[in-house]
Amino acid sequence: MAFFTHHICRGLSSSAVRHVVIKNVTIIGGGQMGAGIAQVAASTGHAVTLVDTNEDILKKAVKGIEGNLKRVVKKKFADKPEAGEEFLQKAMQNVSISTDAGSVVQGTDLVVEAIVENLKVKQDLFGGLDKVAPAHTIFASNTSSLSITDIASSTNRLDRFGGLHFFNPVPVMRLVEVIATSSTSQETFDSLLNFSKMLGKTSVSCKDTPGFIVNRLLLPYILDAVRMYERGDGSKEDIDIAMKLGCGYPMGPFELSDYVGLDTMKFIMDGWSAANPDNPMFAQSEVLNKLVAEGKFGKKTGEGFYKYN
Ligand code: CAA
Repeated sequence: MAFFTHHICRGLSSSAVRHVVIKNVTIIGGGQMGAGIAQVAASTGHAVTLVDTNEDILKKAVKGIEGNLKRVVKKKFADKPEAGEEFLQKAMQNVSISTDAGSVVQGTDLVVEAIVENLKVKQDLFGGLDKVAPAHTIFASNTSSLSITDIASSTNRLDRFGGLHFFNPVPVMRLVEVIATSSTSQETFDSLLNFSKMLGKTSVSCKDTPGFIVNRLLLPYILDAVRMYERGDGSKEDIDIAMKLGCGYPMGPFELSDYVGLDTMKFIMDGWSAANPDNPMFAQSEVLNKLVAEGKFGKKTGEGFYKYN
């Protein structure tokens, strides 16, 4: 029978904080977010297994991680190429891939799920993993818009389930939203906070409410920009320039939509508009629906609001 070590740390302050030390991480989903989380976790010394049902996606993800890390090394270790090479090798050695989540989770401290924004698919995944993962393993979802409570309901580890919401591009964006449900234990929450810190991120927390903080504010803003464009109030180029130069945003709303993925945005908005059919803030957008129907998801497919080479 496998033996799993369950480390408990105590802080030195009088209000002792207990948390599971997370060393082995399983990341489910080899897309942009999963690969980004894997990159950051591996380069901060965690043993990471990236899992996807599609082996080609996994190979592409590993290639992407290596390319991104080389870019980081070139800048960070410009004067010390040998140290840079060592950093790269170590980080890459920390990354494994697998198509068999069930066997991987048997040796993991934390599962981070970054798959499609579909409640049933996420519930099925976690329900299955719950049966095979060790008791101490914490489950976390990187959902952008779904309720953590709903996702966790397919498991028997409600106290060891939380939200860890990263931002794209994960290696660059410094924030992680850490979400506790009403059943998440303090130890689990502290473990997730500590893990985020170990990744070099700043964390914020909020209630298990749709979109948490960032997406609840960001998505309506982006959709308002799309509606301005639909009404002909301004061109997408001018709206993007306006928000970049007028507000200092690094990307305008159309550039950001293409970057995040129009399919992801539609998934989120569809869920919210189904739950709030009378709220005009979540109303359907014809332009967004048309682009998604045409498979124009943004940068990843070569075309969204803009075309990419
Ligand atoms: N891995 C490692 N480093 C990366 C990287 C990656 N994948 N992508 C970019 N970088 C680094 C670059 O090496 C560069 O580093 P230095 O500053 O040290 O030179 C830096 O990031 C900037 O990159 P670039 O020079 O290539 O490009 P840029 O200056 O145009 O910045 C950007 C690109 C970081 C994406 C910037 O445009 C930006 O911050 N955009 C906004 C992104 C944003 O808002 N993300 C949140 C989306 S919402 C979300 O994700 C939530 C959700 O659930 C939908």
